[in-house]
Amino acid sequence: MENKKAYVITGPTSGIGYATALELAKYGTVILVGRNPEKLDQLQKVIKDKGQNAVPVVCDISDMKSVKSAAQQIIALQLPITGLLNNAGIMPAKPAKSAQGWDMTFATNHLGAFALTEALAPHLTDGANVVFITSAIEDPERKPAKIMGMKGGRYLSAETSARGEWKAGGSKMPGIDAYATSKQCILAAAMVFAREDTRLHYNAVEPGITRGTSLGGESTNAFIRFLFGHLMAIIPPFSTYSSTPKRSARMITKILTDESGKTGVYFDEKGLQMLGSTQVRDPEFQDRVVAETRALLLTVK
Ligand SMILES: NC(=O)c1ccc[n+]([C@@H]2O[C@H](COP(=O)([O-])OP(=O)(O)OC[C@H]3O[C@@H](n4cnc5c(N)ncnc54)[C@H](OP(=O)(O)O)[C@@H]3O)[C@@H](O)[C@H]2O)c1
Repeated sequence: MENKKAYVITGPTSGIGYATALELAKYGTVILVGRNPEKLDQLQKVIKDKGQNAVPVVCDISDMKSVKSAAQQIIALQLPITGLLNNAGIMPAKPAKSAQGWDMTFATNHLGAFALTEALAPHLTDGANVVFITSAIEDPERKPAKIMGMKGGRYLSAETSARGEWKAGGSKMPGIDAYATSKQCILAAAMVFAREDTRLHYNAVEPGITRGTSLGGESTNAFIRFLFGHLMAIIPPFSTYSSTPKRSARMITKILTDESGKTGVYFDEKGLQMLGSTQVRDPEFQDRVVAETRALLLTVK
């Protein structure tokens, strides 16, 4: 039987994205957007072997030209896309530059997801769900983040973030200011999209402290790896917020396939509504992030 619906998912080749791609394939064709062609082909095979449909699209989400080309390929498929999951994300300890010379974490977690969403939105079906995987690390008051000495999003401007510069007084842990700021920006953008575009539904998800993924895997700090990979799953208060890729996948799929029309909602790891930081809830801040992001993206020739 031909699937009547299609879902786009970025970063489906590992962790939460991999588990979600398998779950989503039960509901329609999954368009797998990732940077590694071999991993994409392997996943497509796994899905096809179950009698389900998947289409790979190679895309480096940190490169705005690659995002534009991927969006064109996706549109050309002419599938009825009822869901877009912006899941691809990184949390490297060492700063790096993207193809445009921008901070790699900010380009991957915020700019790429933002650009892909703006390119695809007009082509999604009425009432389609767009979901952004963000992180509660953006909130300096969030208990686990606070205990870890994280200081939340450190936004000065989109341009400054693209240069890899963050508001002073940030976290001592390498890479965390970039990660928290990028996640705060995409969460702010999700709320603006929800206000601006009432034809579609835009929501955000904090998946919880999810063990067994590759996030921060390249971190040079073995302690951070151990903390995120093992310790946080069992030690209170971290364990309260812990999840697994499979559990996250079910929760995210529920939101992506939901037809009740919810929009502008930020969900926690249990699928319950949660509050973001004071900063990210401020509509003026949200609008500034979006205006500055659009201006920055216009500089890509
Ligand atoms: N794990 C947690 O505790 C946690 C908590 C809060 C939020 N999150 C968020 O959840 C999302 C999924 O993370 P995860 O934990 O499942 O991590 P993961 O296992 O490292 O998966 C990340 C995915 O993103 C892809 N990706 C990274 N950079 C990319 C790029 N430039 N272009 C295209 N794809 C790219 C990766 O592709 P490759 O397979 O090619 O590397 C992979 O498929 C991320 O947005 C993360 O920030 C995770």
